Amino acid sequence: MDKIRIRGGNPLRGSITVGGAKNAALPLMTAALLTDETLTLTNLPILADINTLCNLLLQHGVAIHMQGAGGAVDRRVVEFTARDITNTTAPYDLVRKMRASVLVLGPLLARCGEATVSLPGGCAIGARPVDLHIKGLQAMGAEIEIESGYIKAKAPAGGLRGAEYIFPKVSVGATENLLMAATLAKGTTVLVNAAREPEVTDLAECLVKMGARITGIGTDRLTIEGVDRLHGAKHMVVADRIETGTYAMAAAITGGELDILNTNLDLIKAAVTALSPAGVAFTEIENGVRVSRANGALHGVDVMTEPFPAFPTDLQAQMMALMCVADGASMITETIFENRFMHAPELMRMGAKITVHGSSALVRGVERLTGAPVMATDLRASVSLVLAGLAASGETTVNRVYHLDRGYERLEEKLAACGADIERVRGEED
Ligand code: UD1
Repeated sequence: MDKIRIRGGNPLRGSITVGGAKNAALPLMTAALLTDETLTLTNLPILADINTLCNLLLQHGVAIHMQGAGGAVDRRVVEFTARDITNTTAPYDLVRKMRASVLVLGPLLARCGEATVSLPGGCAIGARPVDLHIKGLQAMGAEIEIESGYIKAKAPAGGLRGAEYIFPKVSVGATENLLMAATLAKGTTVLVNAAREPEVTDLAECLVKMGARITGIGTDRLTIEGVDRLHGAKHMVVADRIETGTYAMAAAITGGELDILNTNLDLIKAAVTALSPAGVAFTEIENGVRVSRANGALHGVDVMTEPFPAFPTDLQAQMMALMCVADGASMITETIFENRFMHAPELMRMGAKITVHGSSALVRGVERLTGAPVMATDLRASVSLVLAGLAASGETTVNRVYHLDRGYERLEEKLAACGADIERVRGEED
């Protein structure tokens, strides 16, 4: 299994280009199931999770065509054509690799009237149930049974019906599943307390290009008037705000200066709000953001993760790494997932001073972290250890790199190009 080896201490300088958002690309790809015409996605990131979903879509009968396989930029243009859906079952072997596979449920049910999708199961950061996806589809008339680990869903005779569904808790994935299902339902659907993450907005905008009738985009109340059919479209995947925030923190933790390109400040407002008083300076530049320390030191600040537009849970681990080397203390509170502090004990092995109490972690800044062999059990935790390694003295080895490959494209190459002493060590056992 690959490892990442880092010798810390180099300030990062240069520019890093951010890709399309993984969390936008995945639902956008499943939206291709809603039409027999071609959905063309541009700025698609090249990541393990995207490959996993391609494999799932292929076995549903979707034809996938990469335009101009030669050039690096062209390879990001991919056509998805679901002319005939040949199979409405999403098998356990594919779904267990990536929870977002459950996003095929709404589109398959709306287009084919039935779908059988493996329950994703728990994951390292929490139980992550899919009850809201199921209850919302039931409100639209679907009959759903859980049998042998599978969600077996059937639409009523005339197809799914529009309904009002009030989410008891904000869910990105459930909002996306219901939004897609509602585009082809009979009548009007109103989704109340819907997620309004930029990735949900990106999906809604693409669906509108495909002929869907949606109002309230960008708010927590989405109204969808069902149409008989959707058509093909071309859509550019929104920039990855988590990748943007991660590299912003890489600049800050190393005391360097990075131009982060193909992205914008608006996408990371909550991170800017938290990081500015921590001593991180953000400047808008053409096609991106310049990030550095404002005047040398970092200061401890408190952060709480919440649904968008508040501070994202997907940047919590990276923020903790940064706070480990800030002056003073920082209280980090996680409200989205119940078990998302697994990076804390690993950071402590690098000399960090962290006390976890339930859903809060108190971080007392230290002058310097020291390199160590570490590993993490999820994507964002893994990258937080890379950030810590970049700032630590000595050598850090981050094991289980496949987590990073799920969500960060060519991470080590991008960082090395800006002066980091970082390399991938291939093929050794964990
Ligand atoms: C998405 C993102 C993930 C991010 C998360 C929160 C993708 C592919 N993944 O995950 O990176 O960390 O949003 O911003 O976009 N919940 C329920 N019942 C449900 C659904 C969710 O109780 O049916 C709970 C979850 O356990 C969690 C919370 O709601 O505690 C938020 O989860 P949700 O927004 O659904 O996350 P995902 O869509 O899985």
